[in-house]
Amino acid sequence: MAVVYVLANQKGGVGKTTSTYNLGVALAELRQRVLLVDLDPQGGLTFCAGFEPEDLERTVYHCLLRSTPVTDVVLQNDYGIDLLPANIDLSIAEFQLINAPARERRITKIINDVRERYDFVLIDCQPSLGLLTLNALAAADRVIIPVSCEYLSVRGTSALLKLINKVRGQLNSELKVAGLLPTMFDSRTAHARKILNTLKTEFPKLHLYPHVVNRSIRFAEAAAQRIPIFETKTQVPGALAYRELARDLVKFHAKD
Ligand SMILES: Nc1ncnc2c1ncn2[C@@H]1O[C@H](COP(=O)(O)OP(=O)(O)OP(=O)(O)O)[C@@H](O)[C@H]1O
Ligand SMILES: [Mg+2]
Repeated sequence: MAVVYVLANQKGGVGKTTSTYNLGVALAELRQRVLLVDLDPQGGLTFCAGFEPEDLERTVYHCLLRSTPVTDVVLQNDYGIDLLPANIDLSIAEFQLINAPARERRITKIINDVRERYDFVLIDCQPSLGLLTLNALAAADRVIIPVSCEYLSVRGTSALLKLINKVRGQLNSELKVAGLLPTMFDSRTAHARKILNTLKTEFPKLHLYPHVVNRSIRFAEAAAQRIPIFETKTQVPGALAYRELARDLVKFHAKD
């Protein structure tokens, strides 16, 4: 039965999608059955996984609002992951769901329908704390918060933690923060090193993953070529962090 992780941070461009995809592929390399859920109308995860979001007739939108079975929408890619894709259709879902019954639990239901088939479900959120992110947090067991190593990213984390606390009180008492994942780390800058320390001091109760993802232009290049970071010609130091994180997650849940 799958454990459900959400990668969330309402700050844009901190590496949520990159982390979801590469962590997903790294888990699949470890023979885990992985479902990635794109919950962002930008469809970045869908694109990274090798699909053209706007060409898709059925997406997670249809599961959310047309009751289409998940199994009719899930796509498989060449790197061993299953994907529940998204495109711009999803942008109207938040409005259409406003008066719907159990509007915060739609994703929970969708995932529960296929939970038995997977070991890991990873949900990629859009950079907002709206209804879709709330749905993801209601459905999740654990949250990974990617934080890019710059100050504005740290500030956003507090707002997300407040929402997580609210979700715990009202929708999902079991929700846990798995950890903060530092991304886009440039060891040459004093600022990035300072941010790592700030994360430790500002959030002493949260786990700070030791697998810091280094900044590298290869991530943008790999995304443009729609390949996982592990498939680039030269080895990228930041890639190792995702493989180590995948190994940790498998080990952690093997104990369950
Ligand atoms: N470690 C990294 N080093 C350098 N660039 C990176 C790294 N990780 C991701 N990127 C690049 O930074 C940009 C933003 O990354 P990504 O799309 O993963 O962030 P996001 O948090 O999902 O953004 P959004 O909030 O818009 O959904 C992309 O161009 C991506 O290729
Ligand atoms: Mg994204």
